[in-house]
Amino acid sequence: MKSAIYPGTFDPMTYGHLDIIKRAANIFDELIVGVLDNKEKTPLFSVDVRVNILKEATKDLPNVKVESFGGLLSDYCKSKGIFVVVRGLRAVTDFEYELQMSQINRKLSDNKLDTVYFNTSLKYSYLSSSSVKQIAQFGGDLTDFVPGFVADMLLEKFDQKN
Ligand code: PNS
Repeated sequence: MKSAIYPGTFDPMTYGHLDIIKRAANIFDELIVGVLDNKEKTPLFSVDVRVNILKEATKDLPNVKVESFGGLLSDYCKSKGIFVVVRGLRAVTDFEYELQMSQINRKLSDNKLDTVYFNTSLKYSYLSSSSVKQIAQFGGDLTDFVPGFVADMLLEKFDQKN
């Protein structure tokens, strides 16, 4: 069985992420969506909420599992026997960071971990979790960016903050 992991912060998941998940799930037998639980970062949504958003959005994809992980991605992959990392590339500006991450993960895994890139669908090429949060903060329309239930959660969060 060919498994892969799609790791990320997913704060929150956008339609761009979901697009990559669906396409990767068509190629691999099993896709684990790995949600980073990073105590140093202060995400808008807790790791449990980010995991639940992804679980809800992928509930109709039987070969997709959503899990949280902490520490090094290479260690997590080793513990699960996974050798393929999936990442999305929106534009050439993503490339330098992604290449560096891929090389580090390869080095840390004794050359066992490979990264495969999906080019983000054009209609999502401008989309990021950060821009979605900014739009939500100022009450903008999120319809084309995140599922309705995520939009509601974002608006509620910013309502509480204001
Ligand atoms: O969605 P993001 O924030 O671009 O995802 C980044 C992520 C989670 C893939 C990356 O930060 C990561 O793998 N962090 C775990 C720590 C690690 O393994 N670091 C070494 C590679 S740079």
